[in-house]
Amino acid sequence: MKLAPYVGSPCRVIHKMLDLAKPQYGELLVDVGSGKGNVVIEAAKKHPTIKCLGYEINPDLVRESKNRVCTNGLEGRVEIIEGNVFDYGLGDADIVTVYLSTRGMRAIEDKVFTELGINARLVSHDYGFEKHSPNKLRPVSARSAFSSWLPFPVLHYVEIYWMNDIKIRKPLQETIREFLKRSD
Ligand SMILES: C[S@@+](CC[C@H](N)C(=O)[O-])C[C@H]1O[C@@H](n2cnc3c(N)ncnc32)[C@H](O)[C@@H]1O
Repeated sequence: MKLAPYVGSPCRVIHKMLDLAKPQYGELLVDVGSGKGNVVIEAAKKHPTIKCLGYEINPDLVRESKNRVCTNGLEGRVEIIEGNVFDYGLGDADIVTVYLSTRGMRAIEDKVFTELGINARLVSHDYGFEKHSPNKLRPVSARSAFSSWLPFPVLHYVEIYWMNDIKIRKPLQETIREFLKRSD
């Protein structure tokens, strides 16, 4: 199943994702849908002690990102696997990064929340989950492929989900009921 079309994350957004995830010595970062490798390459350059793995379904993007990994001298620290992320487990990941779509987030929600370990963190660019609330959400202004024609940067969002502090999203009706009760 295709979770999203290709759009690369801008560097500023990737740096904010990494600031929130706080990679530790020896950890494994997995980018679900790694595209041209922006996230895995930037993460490996900024955090020399971590390893990065990208799953990407599009063979052309896999080829291009593998070339970029070599050009950046990151062989051995960054690996790109060609395939559908649903054919792989995410249980070894300490950090999972995603930049998908509303549909893509809905599709992977159960997979990530059942497979990730207790100390894992998931960081998402722009899209949230349906059944879970983020632990933190931060705005980032950045130029992206979508907005390169604009003379100013646009607002992006980065959100982090900690597997050791999972927050179930309340149904909207319940939130409204609580609000009405409070204002009685
Ligand atoms: C919006 S792009 C994000 C690229 C990269 N993560 C970044 O932030 O720069 C989403 C990527 O997910 C890939 N993708 C979509 N469905 C996938 C699937 N089922 N398994 C692996 N990759 C997938 C797409 O081909 C695309 O490259």
